[in-house]
Formats: sequence, structure tokens, C-alpha cells
Amino acid sequence: MAAPFPLDVVVVGGCGHVGLPLAIALADRGARVAVFDVSEPAVKLVNDAVLPFDEPGALPLLQRAVASGALRATTDPAVVGDAETVVVVIGTPVDEHLNPDPRAIPRALGICAEYFRDGQQLVLRSTVYPGVTRRSSGWSRGWASTWTSASARSASPRAGP
Ligand SMILES: NC(=O)c1ccc[n+]([C@@H]2O[C@H](COP(=O)([O-])OP(=O)(O)OC[C@H]3O[C@@H](n4cnc5c(N)ncnc54)[C@H](O)[C@@H]3O)[C@@H](O)[C@H]2O)c1
Repeated sequence: MAAPFPLDVVVVGGCGHVGLPLAIALADRGARVAVFDVSEPAVKLVNDAVLPFDEPGALPLLQRAVASGALRATTDPAVVGDAETVVVVIGTPVDEHLNPDPRAIPRALGICAEYFRDGQQLVLRSTVYPGVTRRSSGWSRGWASTWTSASARSASPRAGP
């Protein structure tokens, strides 16, 4: 039997304006949460219980979550293997014509791919280019040796399949 997950949720891009409030709220409700983010300064701030941006009402909840150990931040993508649910909330870069970059989510998932485990659920909360969710679901099946029952679902109201 697979080892149990030490965490409930990992938020990829979790030091951002959408991801951090989500992570704080989940930790405040009793979940064990980690955020993975490529921004070293933002990760340091979160681990120091300092908000990287203004978010009314969030500071005391962040301070409590960090002090209790319910929330921590890291730049190590291996953390995605520690939680049953992985929520992707990275930003969606645009090109010079303001078209969204359809490779942003694939790139982010590629960094994490080797750490996913069987039984995990992947939720795309980023606003994604049409077709990205379906393609992500296909890739996850391609990682079958480590993540055989994975599913990718989009939680973005504007996202295509
Ligand atoms: N589904 C919803 O309800 C909803 C609502 C609002 C916004 N959004 C979407 O959420 C996404 C995030 O928006 P935001 O305002 O929080 O952006 P943001 O720029 O504030 O935060 C994004 C974070 O992702 C990090 N990041 C970027 N690439 C990464 C990677 N490869 N791996 C790990 N971390 C990475 C950045 O360092 C940053 O901290 C956008 O796509 C936005 O459109 C979704």
C-alpha cells in the first residue's frame, strides 16, 4: 500500500495573489498545507509570516498558520509529492499581442512531473488557454509509472476543457 500523504494540499504558485489566500484559508480550516513557488523572496516572506502583498485580514491568519506549522512555503518542487491534492495557481503570461501563453501550465507541470504519485488529484485553478486542461490530463496518464490514477480538472470558470 502506498504511504499516506503527509500534507492535505500543495498550492503551486502559492505565494501569489490567488494562491496565497487560498493556502492561508485552507490552513486556517485545519488542512496541512504547503505552497511551492519559484519566487525565493516571496517564499522567504511567507515562511517569515509576512504577506508579500496587501490582503486585508490575511496577516493574523498567516501568522497563526505559520506558527502552528499548518502552512509552509518552499521552492522545492518535490513537495508536490507530499499532498493528496495539488492546486495549480500560477499566473498566465501573455505575449506582445496579449495572447495567453498556452505553454505556461505545461512548463510548470513539467518541473513537478517526476514527483507526482499514484492517487493524487490535480486541480488547475489558473486561468488556462482552451485545451490545456485536456492536454494536462493526457500528460498525467503519460506519467503512469508514478501516477497511474491521476486526474486533471479545471476549477477556472473561464477555462476551456
Ligand atoms: N479560478 C479562479 O477563481 C481565479 C480567479 C482569479 C484569478 N485566477 C487565475 O489565477 C492565476 C494566478 O493569478 P495571481 O493573480 O495569483 O498571479 P500572481 O502573479 O500574483 O501569482 C502567481 C505566482 O505563481 C508563481 N509562479 C510562476 N510560475 C511558477 C511555476 N512554474 N511554479 C511555481 N510557481 C510559479 C509566481 O512566482 C507567483 O508567486 C492566473 O491564471 C489568474 O488568471 C483564477
